[in-house]
Amino acid sequence: MGHFANQAVDPAAPIVLFDTGVGGLTVLAELRKVLPEAPVIYAADYAGLPYGTKTEAEVAARVCGLLGRMSERYHPRAICIACNTASTIALGMVREVLEVPVIGTVPAIKPAAEMTQTGVIGLLGTAATVRQGYVDELERQFASDKLLIRHAAPELVEQAERKLRGDTIDSAAIAATVAGLRDHTRGMEIDTVVLACTHFPLLEDELRAAMGGGVRFVHGAEGIARRIAYLTEGQEFARGDGDRVVVTAPPDQAMLDAFRPYGFDRIEQL
Ligand code: DGL
Repeated sequence: MGHFANQAVDPAAPIVLFDTGVGGLTVLAELRKVLPEAPVIYAADYAGLPYGTKTEAEVAARVCGLLGRMSERYHPRAICIACNTASTIALGMVREVLEVPVIGTVPAIKPAAEMTQTGVIGLLGTAATVRQGYVDELERQFASDKLLIRHAAPELVEQAERKLRGDTIDSAAIAATVAGLRDHTRGMEIDTVVLACTHFPLLEDELRAAMGGGVRFVHGAEGIARRIAYLTEGQEFARGDGDRVVVTAPPDQAMLDAFRPYGFDRIEQL
């Protein structure tokens, strides 16, 4: 039984999924497979995008402030920080200030370490994520006998946003990311790549084509979806009349177009 199964929960109470932009949709896609009836509010901090180039203090302040306001306004049953940058920096703080269960996003270093044959793993994240002690700790725990090559790829955040809005992707940006991994002394031995930013699985096809030769990509979306399902097990869900996106910048048509295929028909500013 799920952890919070005994508490009476309003069937219409949403699960809040939070990211700076479209990245959390990779988690939503998996969540829909396990909880198709769950009401979801997707919060995108477009006014703060990108987090990856901000300081730890800036990210922590934005995330705590925004999720506090989301909780007060929408009374969610659970909040998922579907953003590696926000999660690796602020998950502990958010859990301290909010009473609602908070699910974080952990870079998939453990499964990657189990999968690699060559012992050389690439990790792509934002600049803020790749320097976090949280990542050092995962490396120490699960990949201490492997080589983990970290590369900050902020350019992919913008390319993923472009892709979902129907704009052309800059193939030079994809090539530069791949070169960032392959140019390392042992970069050609990489057989497994951790996508440690929720935006990046949206570019998996492009990255696979550019990396070539049987490289496997891993990310945490499926595990996060399972975790949300576990924490809400036994609760009732009434999805009602469509889900909404809440943004921190003035919404536009292109934004709504990016979210519509995922079942959102409303967009509003917080
Ligand atoms: N999607 C976010 C992540 O998982 C990052 C995007 C950003 O830099 O805002 O890290």
